[in-house]
Amino acid sequence: MTETFAVKLEEKCYLPDPRCKAAAWTPDYTRAYQEFMHDPEAFWDQVAHELDWFEPWDRVLEWNYPYAKWFVNGKLNITYNCLDRHVTSDRRDKPAVIWRGEGGEERRLTYDGLYREVMRCANALAGLGVGKGDRVCIYMPLVPEQIVAMLACARLGAVHSVVFGGFGAGALAMRINDAEAKVVITADVGYRRGKTIPLRDIVNEALTHAPCVEKTVVFRRGTPAVDLDPAREVDYADLVARAAPDCPAEVMDAEDPLFILYTSGSTGAPKGIVHTCGGYMVGTYYTSRHDFDIKESDILWCTADPGWITGHSYIVYGPLAVGTTVVIAEGTPDYPDPGAYWRLVQDLGVTIFYTAPTAIRMFMRHGDAWPAKYDLSTLRVLGSVGEPLNPEAFEWYYHRIGGGECPVVDTWWQTETGMHVVTTMIGEAMKPGFAGRAIPGAVVDVVDRTGKPVPPGTGGFLVIREPWPAMLRTVHGNDARYRTYWETIPGCYTAGDLAVKDEEGYIMILGRADDLIVVAGHNIGTAEVESALVSHDAVAEAAVIGKPDALKGNVIKAFVTLRVGANPGDALTDELARHVKKSLGPVAVPAEIEFMDRLPKTRSGKIMRRVLKARELGMDPGDISTLEE
Ligand code: WTA
Repeated sequence: MTETFAVKLEEKCYLPDPRCKAAAWTPDYTRAYQEFMHDPEAFWDQVAHELDWFEPWDRVLEWNYPYAKWFVNGKLNITYNCLDRHVTSDRRDKPAVIWRGEGGEERRLTYDGLYREVMRCANALAGLGVGKGDRVCIYMPLVPEQIVAMLACARLGAVHSVVFGGFGAGALAMRINDAEAKVVITADVGYRRGKTIPLRDIVNEALTHAPCVEKTVVFRRGTPAVDLDPAREVDYADLVARAAPDCPAEVMDAEDPLFILYTSGSTGAPKGIVHTCGGYMVGTYYTSRHDFDIKESDILWCTADPGWITGHSYIVYGPLAVGTTVVIAEGTPDYPDPGAYWRLVQDLGVTIFYTAPTAIRMFMRHGDAWPAKYDLSTLRVLGSVGEPLNPEAFEWYYHRIGGGECPVVDTWWQTETGMHVVTTMIGEAMKPGFAGRAIPGAVVDVVDRTGKPVPPGTGGFLVIREPWPAMLRTVHGNDARYRTYWETIPGCYTAGDLAVKDEEGYIMILGRADDLIVVAGHNIGTAEVESALVSHDAVAEAAVIGKPDALKGNVIKAFVTLRVGANPGDALTDELARHVKKSLGPVAVPAEIEFMDRLPKTRSGKIMRRVLKARELGMDPGDISTLEE
């Protein structure tokens, strides 16, 4: 790990409309934060009381560093909170899930409809021998049945491991084996950019290396329906149709596992992050409601796939626990054209829109005309997650999509944290480039390698000082790996990200700690240089790596994709170098700039600098199962 380093902060600030602050669930961030700090357990105790439990907890938190138990001895089922409690209220006939297919087909499930589907699916799985504690792998396209399957597992107390439908057979087999899944739920096909993805064939290939699986449940969408192998496969529709309608929710202990989700991000080998029932429910419920400020009439569209943590927490569990309507759409943002998302916002009257910087920069690349064609006036909250939202992208999102009226909630969190940890709460001043401050409920700091806080303007490691309800409990089969999160910097949870705070405690994420480049003794975050490059009109996206250099230790190499209409060439290279020099100073100027058609990314849209670096240096890129196509 590196030492701390100085960061030049330039600040611009947007003040939101005071009316949206007054009406927010958290109308006064500072007060809410003080209340939390005054008595953290009382704060979470109060939130947990807004939900339904079968038996109350004895203690809010038992902290036995680095192991936490939340809502000790509390009994619950998360699906009871996402379904049962709504069907006995006015929300019974409210849409829970609105699905759009790539070709514009639509399906709606009301809370009551979803409730019934989930119970039947749960009974169907129980009929295959799935019970509490068993692991089920869900490898599905983005269809309502993906959500139904997740909730059905949770209903039974089975542990789901959702694997994103874009992964190949090798990555799938590794995840199935690691979790020792008994059943796989899949579909015959998924659709993406008008092409068919043969999910079931991929499962069958994976299963030749995964003997633990007893049955595959296949949701058949294609016509004519594919033939199934009766020895190993069962038809989803058939199984569910034959299942009994009522399935009471299994009584779960707050600390029983809810799911395993594999993460590798842009570095290292996949880790099975384990989340538990009680704390995860409370954390995702609270952050969904308060950070997006969900009101009864809202329609939330989180564009992630349920196969990522963003989908688990902010499509499925958090929003459904709140009782809102969620939109899901199969396909990609620019298919059949770059207006696809905005058309859907207009058609469905989406009010809260949550996406990733990679998508925002892609939209910027296609120009302002696309969003301008559609009525986006129903939008009232815009969210971002996954990577630093560079100021250029913030401005575009805020003005072109939000019409300068919607708060932009840039949420920093991780698969491991389960829930938002840093953001700018609705109604607070927004600073482009800064994610914001710790949410009420989390204690966040920027520290040096000994855990000592660094002053504002000095970059360091982003840490979480105290346990939080939705935190990971372990890494499946590798508890030693879990402990390193809490032992790298003693006493704190180390996120692995670099960050800097300003005088008001706003946090700017500078990128992953392993993405830091030391040039002539200066520490430079890849995100800073990338952000500077992207602030140039011609640039759509940039990825920056360090290259060993005899003289300077490292030099910076930048890989750049251009906006539609921009011309690559020496003139632009020189101009970009001058541009970076002006904003960050001479040490941050890339020694080389290479223009590319596209950048290597993970399937969740994060730039994989490691792959660029390996290519550049002629090294082995390591595990690339997360690389998109
Ligand atoms: C990055 C996604 C800057 C960060 C929820 C983190 C972000 C990793 C932001 C986790 C943000 C996520 N600003 N960087 N708002 N949100 N990241 O596990 O590096 O897929 O550690 O979880 O994404 O990625 P993961």
